[in-house]
Amino acid sequence: YDIEIMESVSSTNDYLKTLAFDKQEGYVCVADYQEKGKGRNGRSFYSPKQKGIYMSFLLKPTLSVYESLKITACVSVALWEAIKKNYQIDSKIKWVNDIFIEEKKIGGILCEASLEMNTASMDYMVVGIGVNVHKQIFAKDLASVAGSIEEFSDKIISRNQIIKDILNGFYKYYNEIDKNTFLPAYKEHSSVLHKDIMVYERNNSYPAKVLDIDTNASLIIEKEDGSTSTINSGEVSI
Ligand code: BTN
Repeated sequence: YDIEIMESVSSTNDYLKTLAFDKQEGYVCVADYQEKGKGRNGRSFYSPKQKGIYMSFLLKPTLSVYESLKITACVSVALWEAIKKNYQIDSKIKWVNDIFIEEKKIGGILCEASLEMNTASMDYMVVGIGVNVHKQIFAKDLASVAGSIEEFSDKIISRNQIIKDILNGFYKYYNEIDKNTFLPAYKEHSSVLHKDIMVYERNNSYPAKVLDIDTNASLIIEKEDGSTSTINSGEVSI
């Protein structure tokens, strides 16, 4: 892989976006520390020095933006498998792209796409992955929800090893994304499939049951009135 390693950066996603037109698909940047790590929906991603994996890589997908959830799903499965291989831990994938061990979130994925003018095709996509690897102390507001892998294992694995496994795993699925080979594992490790959840949309929230996850990695849900719908954005909770 073509990898750039940095001691510190504002956000690897933001940094890679500035290079997106100059670099080829597959370019990776990894930082030891992020001053302003970003999470989804305007949240921040706590990125203390040398404690976690803070990486982004560049894709130039031929998919339409409506299929971009599939990419996130491929990353989730690759991350799940990297954790299993190195720590023998079964984590859970919380739709769409959070990784949990027991009740703690130990990683998340933030994909940012840039669209060609007036089209649904992507110029590029920056895939950002954050994983809390080594033991660390979380601030009060995070402590009940966030954790690191080493809280659940005595093994000390290098971040480089995990990065390598994530990338290798990801490309295995991405190279055959048309065949949806990521889907069986994505469903098997999902924490929401067949569960009762809450769906949060911009202005409302409602309870629903997850019936299935389709080949686009969208959730097929049944609402309380018995109607079904497909959701591909927003937040859910269990
Ligand atoms: C989330 O949990 O909502 C997504 C977290 C994504 C964090 C990663 S760390 C590397 C990359 N750069 C960022 O600023 N964010 C992503």
